[in-house]
Amino acid sequence: MANQLFATKTVADLHLDDSSGPQLKRALSATALTALGIGGIIGTGIFVLTGTAAANHAGPALALAFIIAGIGCTLAGLCYAEFAAMIPVSGSAYSYSYATLGEGVAWFIGWNLVLEYLFAVATVSVGWSGYLVSLLDQFGMHLPTALSSAPFAKGPGDFDIVRTGAIINLPAIAIVAALTYICYVGIRQTSAFNTVIVAIKVTVVLLFIFLGVSHINPANWHPFIPANEGPGKFGWSGIMAAAGVIFFAYIGFDAISTAAQETKNPQRAMPIGILSSLVICTILYVVVAIILTGMVNYRELDVSAPVALALDKYPDLHWLGLPVKLGALAGMTSVMLVMTLAQARIFLAMARDGLIWKPFGKVHPTHQTPSFGTVFTGVVAAIVGGLLPVGILGELVSIGTLMAFVTVCIGVLVLRITRPELERPFRTPAPWFTCIAGAIICGLMMVSLGIGTWARLVVWTIIGAVIYAFYGYKHSRLHGTNGSARPVSATR
Ligand code: ALA
Repeated sequence: MANQLFATKTVADLHLDDSSGPQLKRALSATALTALGIGGIIGTGIFVLTGTAAANHAGPALALAFIIAGIGCTLAGLCYAEFAAMIPVSGSAYSYSYATLGEGVAWFIGWNLVLEYLFAVATVSVGWSGYLVSLLDQFGMHLPTALSSAPFAKGPGDFDIVRTGAIINLPAIAIVAALTYICYVGIRQTSAFNTVIVAIKVTVVLLFIFLGVSHINPANWHPFIPANEGPGKFGWSGIMAAAGVIFFAYIGFDAISTAAQETKNPQRAMPIGILSSLVICTILYVVVAIILTGMVNYRELDVSAPVALALDKYPDLHWLGLPVKLGALAGMTSVMLVMTLAQARIFLAMARDGLIWKPFGKVHPTHQTPSFGTVFTGVVAAIVGGLLPVGILGELVSIGTLMAFVTVCIGVLVLRITRPELERPFRTPAPWFTCIAGAIICGLMMVSLGIGTWARLVVWTIIGAVIYAFYGYKHSRLHGTNGSARPVSATR
């Protein structure tokens, strides 16, 4: 068993796509990938989480928290770029781990990516529903609470669940269903829809920046780093805690790598897409953080719509409130779209390796999309978003993602040492520094995520280990026990 847990697939094997049956469609350019990256990144984080991160953790130094999280993500992004250009397959971090650290780690990361992508769709669908309800309210249309919120909520204890009296969160289900349909019908349609949505949300963010800058009161920036009031409350420990919270805002750039098999010239386009979407979003985030904390005293920002609150303070900016709500809705829409897309492709790679049920590995003959995985992702995300308390899921999404980032950083270094001769169309600069610093910064953000989240991660891992033991281990193509595997070398 230990042999199999540590068995790696060769990079050549990873390149060998399953040649039987329909293939994914190569339709994406570097520009489309960049749009996909921005689509996955800008969403709930900037429109919702900035408020609590500033008010409870960092104060005006929120911008520093964005820079720290941005540096951690950029280092991880460089590692993703090296892997994605070298092994342009749809399994992303899951496949990279399979090539470097063995099947056991690959399964663990694949299972964690479910936490990232599938649960991100569910989490964001609830935020989307909340924004829609408030937007409709503004126009005098009131959706009944019983039909627009979850019947269960998180109770006082870490694992308590209580009834809310509501029946179902229909808007959350409806948006997930609509986006699942788009992902199902084709990568070209998904990319085109995403590009339109990205244009809307980036325009709104730019409007906020250009109009907000003249409403800054520099007194709001003093003291820039408020004195520490306890662990994670202001001072430098507060800035680190804020970085852990707003890390969520950066999640999504890695999802691009799952579209590698649908990209034209992925060796060149992947690094461009990953790194340019990250750089663009980091700049936008830092500037928004500086302007937001300059417009409003950070202590007032502990609200669910901090950007809207800042606009409310200035009568000449009231008109921007509506576009900001639309921008937030657009942002969350593209995040869900990209995450649904990514999840289905991770399932595809895992199924083709025999680690999960075969239908996940099927590509639709006409649409050329992983149809079963797409529908499955949509159905589960809709159930979770429509019925369950998702307040606690946000941090789980972050910890699952950070785990994948740390593994990818380590994996790049491992492969540089074990297979230095492999052709690398993109080489991470100063790999010893980049990989180790990336793993440490992402690891520190994991540590800042609280004991409850770690406990839930352990529960999730145990469930994953049971599924692997009873299914993945036996059906693994590397193991070859299902008798239908093509020959794959178990070691390099
Ligand atoms: N980065 C994405 C968001 O902020 C997950 O919604």
